[in-house]
Amino acid sequence: MTQIIDGKALAQKMQSKLAQKVQDLKDKEGIVPGLAVILVGEDPASHVYVRNKERSALQAGFKSEVVRVPDSISQAELIALIDNYNKDCSIHGILVQLPLPAHIDDNAIILAIDPQKDVDGFHPMNTGKLWSGQPVMLPCTPAGIMEMFREYEIDLEGKNTLIIGRSNIVGKPMAQLLLNQNATVTLTHSRTKHLPELARQADVLIVAIGKGHFVTKDFVKEGAVVIDVGMNRDDNGKLIGDVKYDDVAEVASYITPVPGGVGPMTITMLLEQTYQAALRSVSK
Ligand code: GUN
Repeated sequence: MTQIIDGKALAQKMQSKLAQKVQDLKDKEGIVPGLAVILVGEDPASHVYVRNKERSALQAGFKSEVVRVPDSISQAELIALIDNYNKDCSIHGILVQLPLPAHIDDNAIILAIDPQKDVDGFHPMNTGKLWSGQPVMLPCTPAGIMEMFREYEIDLEGKNTLIIGRSNIVGKPMAQLLLNQNATVTLTHSRTKHLPELARQADVLIVAIGKGHFVTKDFVKEGAVVIDVGMNRDDNGKLIGDVKYDDVAEVASYITPVPGGVGPMTITMLLEQTYQAALRSVSK
């Protein structure tokens, strides 16, 4: 029997615990965790993601500030906006929604965020810390996937894990988090040769390639755990994952659905890390 990893339920459980922790922090220290989200331009998917982040932040009792700016904003103006939040003591986490318009250099923007407030874990200070084994802020999607493994007691020690997709947001940080749990990691991408054959060796398969229904049963060993990070639209505008769910569910032992799998966990980890940053600000 294939077991569905219910990201939505786990996210709800963690977010209601978090709301209690936020209330305690308010009562004991008078501090409200503050999250600032900056959204540049009109990308419809980004607008949906940001609205979901805002709604969850408010539900958990956070202060939430969302700044929506047109894609005519200059890089210098965007950096100035970030700098204001770097200095604002009521804001503990800053997130700039990606992708950014072509005239803005993502790296320059990420570098402008105070590493202590970088709740996405994208700043080189935080990626460097992750790779040298002293993680503080983690990229939220891989961190959310690790929570799913914990919740479902999926042991990673010595397992063959294979990631499809080498992005800075998911694939690369995922590799390090799996290594920290003593998994063996293969990091593959669009140029990898003989991918289905390689993937069939994996006990745990994590797919973040951004191509709808890319992974079929041919990629999956009987009994493997399959995590689908994909968020794509099919020709009818329906949200679909990178994994052909019905096909792969026939062979997988555990599988995440889309929607209701990884997505809600990403938001949960964003809030959790903002709360942790607020907590650290108390002891300063
Ligand atoms: N765009 C897609 N995923 C993410 C994410 O985790 N963080 C940010 N900032 N932008 C994204």
